[in-house]
Amino acid sequence: MKSLLKWFESVIDNDSYDALNEKHPLAHELDQQVDKNPEGFTGFVHELGTWAKEHPGAILKTLNKLRPVLTIKDVSVVTSYEAVKDVLGRDGDFGVNYGPKMEKITEGKGFFLGMDDNTDGFSARNNMQMLFRRDDIDTIVKPTIKGLCADQLKGLNDQFDLVDDYLKLIPAKFAIQYFGLKDTDPQWLLKTTQTLFEYIFIDVVNDPDLDARAQQAAKELRDQLDKMIASSSTSEDANTVIARGIKLDLAGVAGFDSVNLRNNILGLLIGLVPTTAKSAAMAFDYGTQTPAKEKELYAAYKNSSNNPFQKTVRELSRLNPINPGLFRRANFNTQISSGGNQYQIKKDTLIFVGTYTAMQDSAHVRDPSSIKTDRPESDYLTYGFGLHACFGRYINDFHVGQLLESLFDKNHYVREENDSGNLIFDGAFPVSLKVKLLP
Ligand code: HEM
Repeated sequence: MKSLLKWFESVIDNDSYDALNEKHPLAHELDQQVDKNPEGFTGFVHELGTWAKEHPGAILKTLNKLRPVLTIKDVSVVTSYEAVKDVLGRDGDFGVNYGPKMEKITEGKGFFLGMDDNTDGFSARNNMQMLFRRDDIDTIVKPTIKGLCADQLKGLNDQFDLVDDYLKLIPAKFAIQYFGLKDTDPQWLLKTTQTLFEYIFIDVVNDPDLDARAQQAAKELRDQLDKMIASSSTSEDANTVIARGIKLDLAGVAGFDSVNLRNNILGLLIGLVPTTAKSAAMAFDYGTQTPAKEKELYAAYKNSSNNPFQKTVRELSRLNPINPGLFRRANFNTQISSGGNQYQIKKDTLIFVGTYTAMQDSAHVRDPSSIKTDRPESDYLTYGFGLHACFGRYINDFHVGQLLESLFDKNHYVREENDSGNLIFDGAFPVSLKVKLLP
């Protein structure tokens, strides 16, 4: 969120604010603040200082009220539910930006997240569904994750670091087992995929240092995957993602050659490992901010009818998602609809699509700040929407829910009361939150 604000500050200046205000005056309170500041709008944005950096969500929510589609120069910030769905649903008009970076880290051959409406993207998505199967959810995915959570907790003391000792390891260990990446270090896998995630999804300013670290991480990951593919068993009973891919290649099915297989697995790992650990840490943090909230979460665990715990955790992710939104670029001169208005968007405009504010937009989401376990599917945008909606969306709610549910299964862990019980981030990723056994 902080980098979003930095980016937002960098695209706004007084000239563009004045030009915008001439056409459509901004809200009264905002104008008053700007008038009071000797440096105008730029000064006002800077003056928001620490508060703004800590509360970019509040700024985005305010924008939704004042300007659901705000365009300054060649950048738009889209914050209403209607406009967010409009942009994400029209993949022909609003394309993804990930292509060039994806191609760089895979050395030429892309990954389907970077591809819009074209044959290669559709084939790659379908191909990966043959390896990462919906049928596996009950038979392989759920028991594997459940077992990994229980095993990890067994080895921990009454006090431990929820992030460092537990959350960040399980998604990596799950990936290693399910994909068939034997002898891969989970810590290394997490670190590598976090760097690549930051490079592709967060780094809107194209930081050269991060670029260098990402190329190194990509090389290491490609080398490790090449090694894994070359040494994988193709015996009858080998049933990992990699083994399935190799068998299809040997059977002559197009799209599963070793380079394609490696690049697609590389993309899936970047989607899976850092996101799941971060989602679980942020959901736990939000759901246990006060003893009263913690009690509610525990009550959801105790209530065994209709799986309220997983649904509650899903709500925590809606209210505290891993990112405030996604980016798109306009492929044509076009319009975005919101609240009965049509906003003009020029070709090549970079669009920040605010999924966070959309999920809290009271014009479409009933009582958005409260936790409700009976919401319609359409209220959730935590896994995106449209062509690029998350490939892992069928397992994520289970995975994140199970990571937290296991904390109550045998024992009942709560966060430490002192500062060490706070969720600490290093850059974009959580690194620590200490918990202890409930006395
Ligand atoms: C809680 C965990 C996760 C969260 C919060 C999450 C979030 C998201 C979001 C918001 C998008 C949309 C990106 C966009 O439209 O620009 C996305 C796409 C994607 N995710 Fe996830 N994800 C998670 C887990 C996973 C897992 C487990 C996998 C792999 C198995 C995965 C693989 C992907 C892929 C491949 C895409 C691109 C899909 C496409 O372009 O068709 N993600 N994810």
